[in-house]
Amino acid sequence: MRGKIAPSVMCVDFMRLAEALKDFAALGIEYLHVDIMDGCFVPNYTLGPDFCRALKEHSRIPLDIHLMITQPERKLDWFPFGEGDYVSVHYEATPHPIRALQAVRARGGKAMLALNPATPVGVLENCLDDLDGVLLMTVNPGYAGQKLIPRTLDKIAETRAFLDARGFARVEIEVDGNVSFENALKMREKGADIFVAGTSSIFHKGGSLADNTEKLRKAIR
Ligand code: DX5
Ligand code: ZN
Repeated sequence: MRGKIAPSVMCVDFMRLAEALKDFAALGIEYLHVDIMDGCFVPNYTLGPDFCRALKEHSRIPLDIHLMITQPERKLDWFPFGEGDYVSVHYEATPHPIRALQAVRARGGKAMLALNPATPVGVLENCLDDLDGVLLMTVNPGYAGQKLIPRTLDKIAETRAFLDARGFARVEIEVDGNVSFENALKMREKGADIFVAGTSSIFHKGGSLADNTEKLRKAIR
């Protein structure tokens, strides 16, 4: 299975959002990565539920909603998602990660547990039956344009080995943060399946969206 691309919609030129959605569809983009930030779990605000509703209305590409918010299990109903959409909740953001993952699945969503760079892979141990994916932050969450935390490359391989050793080869790994063309190649080699593409790759100023997407596709083949 080829690597999948999830453009970080917070990096889109909002004045051209409708065209960008059409471009994504034409380029065979697999997910729309929507960063939701509450200014508490991470030191920034970005997009919200109404923005997700607008995406649902104007695009058929599944959403990949990245909830960087506290107590996500209490707020899932604020967001429009269902069959085929990924929703990631941060392990560090709730005392009840399993309840949150189960609530995502109860609505037909694919449940993903997000780990900050410093969070050990071992926290997955007791959540395995309730998750469809793991989102590994390769930068400290909150802003686009940051630099990769090098240690997180090995964490991708560690996570892949951890899942496979326990019979969870079906669980996908998504990487989020400074997924540059060079980093994407290494991340793919380490076992990543879904790539959050932002200013380091498909929105890179050095090329067009189409050329940058093609370049990223080659790196994550
Ligand atoms: C980080 C954000 C992503 C991503 C953006 O919190 O979730 O949107 O970093 O892509 P880059 O890092 O390439 O600008
Ligand atoms: Zn994200």
